[in-house]
Amino acid sequence: MKKYLVIGNPIEHSLSPLLHNFWIKKHGIDAIYEKKLLEKSDIEKILNGMREGKTQGINVTVPFKKEVIPFLDQLSDIAKKTQSVNTIFKRQDKLIGDNTDVYGFSEAIKLTNFDLKNKKALIFGAGGVVPSIILALKNMGTLEIILSNRTKAKAEGLKKNFPFLKVINWGDIIKSDLIINATSLGIKKNEEIKLDYSKIDGQLFYDVIYNPSETKFLENAKKFEKKNGKWKKYVYLPSNEIIRNMARY
Ligand code: ATR
Repeated sequence: MKKYLVIGNPIEHSLSPLLHNFWIKKHGIDAIYEKKLLEKSDIEKILNGMREGKTQGINVTVPFKKEVIPFLDQLSDIAKKTQSVNTIFKRQDKLIGDNTDVYGFSEAIKLTNFDLKNKKALIFGAGGVVPSIILALKNMGTLEIILSNRTKAKAEGLKKNFPFLKVINWGDIIKSDLIINATSLGIKKNEEIKLDYSKIDGQLFYDVIYNPSETKFLENAKKFEKKNGKWKKYVYLPSNEIIRNMARY
C-alpha cells in the first residue's frame, strides 16, 4: 500500500487527509494519506524515509515550507522563485520539491471573477505562504502589492526576491481592493487580527486560514459590510477554495 503524508506543526487543523483520502477511495487506489506532527529536527529523518520508499509523497504545511528545501535534490521553477515547497515527490530516485500554492491561490481568486488588473492588494503577514501569494498576484496583473508584518524586517526581506513590494508598518492601513490575512492569527478560535475595518474599504477579503472556515477576520469584514452596505462588489473567500483547487491539480 502506498503511503502519503502531510507534515507540519500544528497539523491537527489540516484537512489534507480528508481531501486526498476522498480521491484515493474514489479512484480505488491502494494508498493511505495521513497527517504527521513534526519538529524541525525530524525533517531529515522523514525525508530519508521517503528516499527509502517508506512514503511515496509528502505535502508540507506551516512552518516547514522553506525548512524542507535543504533536504531536497531539486526544485521546480515556482518552488525556486517562492522558496516555498508544499509538495514533495520522487522522480528517478531524486526528491523534487514543488509548489501548488501559487496555482491554488490564483484559481481561488479566479472563481470570484474579481479582476485584479490595476488593483491594489494588501497582505498581512510575511510567513511561508506569502511568497506564493505575491507571485500569484503579480502574475494576475495586480498593480500594487503592499505588505504589513509585525516583524517589519521579515517583510523587507521579501523585497530581495520581489523588489516591487511596498512595505508599511504593522498597524498602518492603506486602502486596498483586496485584503489578505496571511498571518496565523485566527487559527485559534478566539484569536483575531486587530484592524480598524472602517479604514480598510476593500472589495475582496481573503483568509489563508481555512479551519475554522470563517475566521474572525472574515466575520468582522462581513459585519462591517452589512453595517456600511456600500461595498457592492464585496466578496469574502475562505481558502477552502484552495483545497478544492488543489484537488484539480
Ligand atoms: P513562519 O513565520 O515561520 O513562516 P508562518 O506561520 O508562516 O510562520 O507565519 C506566521 C505569520 O503570522 C507571520 O507573518 C507572523 O508575524 P511575525 O513575522 O512577526 O512573527 C504572523 N503572526 C503570528 N502571530 C502573530 C501575532 N500575535 N500578531 C501579529 N502577527 C502574528
